[in-house]
Amino acid sequence: MNISQEMLNLFIRQIIHEDANKNLYLKISSVLKNMGLNKIGIFFAEQADGEYGHKKILIDYLNDRNVNFEMGSIPEVNYEFKGVIDLGTIYVEREKGTTSMLKDITHLALMDGDDLTYQHIMETLIKEQIEEESTSQTVLDIANLAQDDIFKFSVMFEQNLL
Ligand SMILES: [Fe+2]
Ligand SMILES: [Fe+2]
Repeated sequence: MNISQEMLNLFIRQIIHEDANKNLYLKISSVLKNMGLNKIGIFFAEQADGEYGHKKILIDYLNDRNVNFEMGSIPEVNYEFKGVIDLGTIYVEREKGTTSMLKDITHLALMDGDDLTYQHIMETLIKEQIEEESTSQTVLDIANLAQDDIFKFSVMFEQNLL
C-alpha cells in the first residue's frame, strides 16, 4: 500500500469528519432559513458544499494513490439554536478541531517519511483552514459585537460576509 495503515485510518476518520461538518452546516442552514434568516442560511449551505469538497479531496487522493478503503458511517449531527454567540462558538470550535485533525495527518506523514501525503494535505486542506478559521472567527466576532442580538447580527453579517 502506498500509505501506511495508520495513515489510512486517519484519512477515513477525516473523511467522516468532513462529512459530519457538511451535515452540521446543512442543519445550521436549515434552522436559520426556518427562522427567516435566509441569506445567512444560504451562506451555511455554501460552507456545507465546501465540506463536501474537502471530503472529495481526501477520496481523490486515496484513489490517485491506488488505496482501497471502506467508507465509514457518519455520526448523527445535532444542532439546536441557542443564540448567535453559541452559533459562532460552535462554528469556530468545529473549524479549529478540523485543523487539529488535519495536523495529525501531516505530523504522521512527516514521521512516515510520506512526503507526497504531507505536501498534498498541506497545499490543499490545511492551507484552506486559514480561511475557514478566519471566516468562523468573523462570525463569532460579529455575534459578540451584536451582543447576541439576532437582528443586529444579521445586519452586520450581511454587510461583512455576504
Ligand atoms: Fe473541511
Ligand atoms: Fe471547514
